Amino acid sequence: MSGELSPIDKAKFVAAKRAAEMVEDGMRVGLGTGSTAAWLVRCLGEMVREDGLKISCVPTSLRTAQLSREVGLTVISLEEAKWLDLTIDGADEFDSELNLIKGGGGALLQEKIVASASDQMVVIADTAKEVSRLGAFPLPIEVIPFGLSTSRALVEELLISMDVMGRAVSLRMDGAAPYITDEGNHILDLHLTRIGNPRQLSLALNQIPGVVENGLFIDICDTVVVGYGDGRVEVRDINEGTIETDRIDFVETDNLFTDLGD
Ligand code: 5RP
Repeated sequence: MSGELSPIDKAKFVAAKRAAEMVEDGMRVGLGTGSTAAWLVRCLGEMVREDGLKISCVPTSLRTAQLSREVGLTVISLEEAKWLDLTIDGADEFDSELNLIKGGGGALLQEKIVASASDQMVVIADTAKEVSRLGAFPLPIEVIPFGLSTSRALVEELLISMDVMGRAVSLRMDGAAPYITDEGNHILDLHLTRIGNPRQLSLALNQIPGVVENGLFIDICDTVVVGYGDGRVEVRDINEGTIETDRIDFVETDNLFTDLGD
């Protein structure tokens, strides 16, 4: 199958594979959502089945929970785990301080709770996710259905006073109906183009009644594993100020490279 994966998919895979090496026996691990996180789940499943790795996993969505069980991971709830050693997740954008935009896959609420309940959050991403300033990717915010129009109007009003370049707000759709998150809420996507002050925006958005959480992850992520289509990976640790480079052999085994469905 080696000709079938795009360079972006290869980059996502090698980032996930390298991050999986950070997982050790006995760990409680938070598992992100999205196509990059799905590679991680596959890699961990292989390590559990073939190397006897013993871990407990807390998924951040129903999709990830289902895939985790399919590949043989032990799934527990965050209530059972209480605290996690490590969370590994994808991102829609990351900047040089490892501030993130997440929620493109609609799982930002559980993702932020799980990452915040972890000693360490590692982001896995292809190089296209790296930006000098956040905001080109629409910022998702999770909003409860009750009073949706009111919350939306308050968000639009807030954006007038924020340091952002665009101010359009759209309700995420799933076909003809509004998209519904695993928590039964909706998503508003904020088309900001450029976010001047992510911390200020994040705090202000979460003050609005009806907004449950926003997709800005500030001071949550410590390490990013950046994958490239040719198998190179970089592990950047923002606390240590280090960049490790590595190369992952790209061997497409039957188990890992069957359809991911994500
Ligand atoms: C889901 C997310 C994902 O991590 C983000 O959308 C990246 O997805 P992908 O790995 O498919 O590019 O935040 O809510």
